[in-house]
Amino acid sequence: MKRSILLFALLSWGCNSPTPPSSDTTAPAPATPVAAANPVEAGQKLYDSTCTACHGAGGVGINGLGKPLKGSPMLKLSDGELVDFIKKGRDTSDPKNTTKVAMPPKGGNPALSDLDLTNIVAYLRSLK
Ligand code: HEC
Repeated sequence: MKRSILLFALLSWGCNSPTPPSSDTTAPAPATPVAAANPVEAGQKLYDSTCTACHGAGGVGINGLGKPLKGSPMLKLSDGELVDFIKKGRDTSDPKNTTKVAMPPKGGNPALSDLDLTNIVAYLRSLK
């Protein structure tokens, strides 16, 4: 009996050396898929590099530039509608323009993908 316990201890100790036990490779995946793990965080990074210049840090708005986005009535739109709006922007020639200042398409950053914009929208919705 004592011998087998010792043997077991030695065997399990052996398993702790460099090669991980095979059960690790079948460990359950994290509850949230990685792509959607943190849209808000991803969106904030993009917002900070592209949108803050006009809309201010935290979406508080900058007088004479971009409107406040935090709590904007625009956030009632669906994600898709907001993404479409941001893609298009709102030129001063647009009758819906309210400030006589232009919102450039994609905030002037054509590199932003739909996913990037969706993440930015998630960030905007998180602002309190
Ligand atoms: C060059 C300045 C500028 C940049 C950069 C910019 N915006 Fe704007 N944005 C504006 C202006 C100006 C308006 C207001 C347009 C108007 O008069 O209706 C606006 C309006 C908006 C609105 C509508 C707000 C409302 O309540 O009507 C949203 C949403 C928005 N911007 C999102 C963004 C996002 C997201 C980014 C970054 C990807 C961004 N903007 C970058 C200038 C900018």
